[in-house]
Amino acid sequence: MSTLTSDLPKLHEKAGDFMPINGTDYIELYVSNAKQAAHFYRSAMGFQALAYAGLETGLRDRESYVVVQDKIRIVLTSPLQSGTDIGRHIDKHGDGVKVTALWVDDATYAYEAAMERGATSYLKPETIEDEHGKVVRSGIYSYGEVVHIFIERKAYDGIFLPGYKEWKTHYNPSDVGLKYVDHMVGNVELGKMNYWVEFYEKVMGFTQILSFDDKDISTDYTALMSKVMSNGNGRIKFPINEPAAGKKKSQIEEYLDFYEGAGVQHIAVATDDIIKTVTELRDRGIEFLRVPSSYYDVLTDRVGEIDEDIEPLRELGILVDRDDEGYLLQIFTKTIQARPTMFFEIIQRKGANSFGKGNFKALFEAIEREQELRGTL
Ligand code: FE2
Repeated sequence: MSTLTSDLPKLHEKAGDFMPINGTDYIELYVSNAKQAAHFYRSAMGFQALAYAGLETGLRDRESYVVVQDKIRIVLTSPLQSGTDIGRHIDKHGDGVKVTALWVDDATYAYEAAMERGATSYLKPETIEDEHGKVVRSGIYSYGEVVHIFIERKAYDGIFLPGYKEWKTHYNPSDVGLKYVDHMVGNVELGKMNYWVEFYEKVMGFTQILSFDDKDISTDYTALMSKVMSNGNGRIKFPINEPAAGKKKSQIEEYLDFYEGAGVQHIAVATDDIIKTVTELRDRGIEFLRVPSSYYDVLTDRVGEIDEDIEPLRELGILVDRDDEGYLLQIFTKTIQARPTMFFEIIQRKGANSFGKGNFKALFEAIEREQELRGTL
């Protein structure tokens, strides 16, 4: 248990934002084969080898590979024996996000503030250290089995976290221009969206910045409702989806069935040059959802003039949407593990702060075509 104290809480209360978060620290996935998953993230997604923990660093029950691309850090963890909590998580959910770690200035304060406001404890504040300094971390539960770990690293200058060693390797494929986590979306059970909206408001001090109902987001088959929660400085955005009644099984229900509960649906990662990034990802084997070519015939009518040529967008399948502040370009990968659960979004914002509502219909119809192939519609 850490004994750190600080004046930060008072400053936070003064600012009216009791939970200041600097950004996403890392995202940890529990996967069945971390070594091979790390290869996929490096060779196909352009991440770089960063750190490793496992048998060689004194762990006996698990190993973790950490990969990085600009500000995005992903930790891939697998158990090394049977009967572990990680193994049970993988048995139930398949590969998926366990931890969204949030970078804070004071992990003890963040934990106490959240606990006071009704959070469920995952990890009491603890200090871990090595020759590079110390890190304080603490954690609370979110939806499903997802947890938030608060990371305070101002007294640490090591490669990742104490316990990890630098991962050096001969094979270092280049990055693809991914910059930071733009948002991370959760799918929760029917009727639970508002519960989690309230959780992020009350426990984390987030505010709701957008909402979509089944009138915004419905095709013949799919309906869903979504509310977007954001922290004070806007660096953390968590849209939360729940299924709504449709004619057939919605993509959210398919996720909940195959993930066997609530969990992270997609991680949106930002780029400054989506045409270059998506070309590179495609050439490395990443598969994307496609909308019909007719989408591009009416694109300029719908979104007005944009800087990009339409042809490469059409060729790659990149979608465009506009709001009051500007426009955005986005594309969604197919699901990236055995189960039809998690996927990635690649997004480039050119002024727009929204999430591509104008693309929902075309996109969901593309998802339904995939569901049809899986026999899960
Ligand atoms: Fe998204």
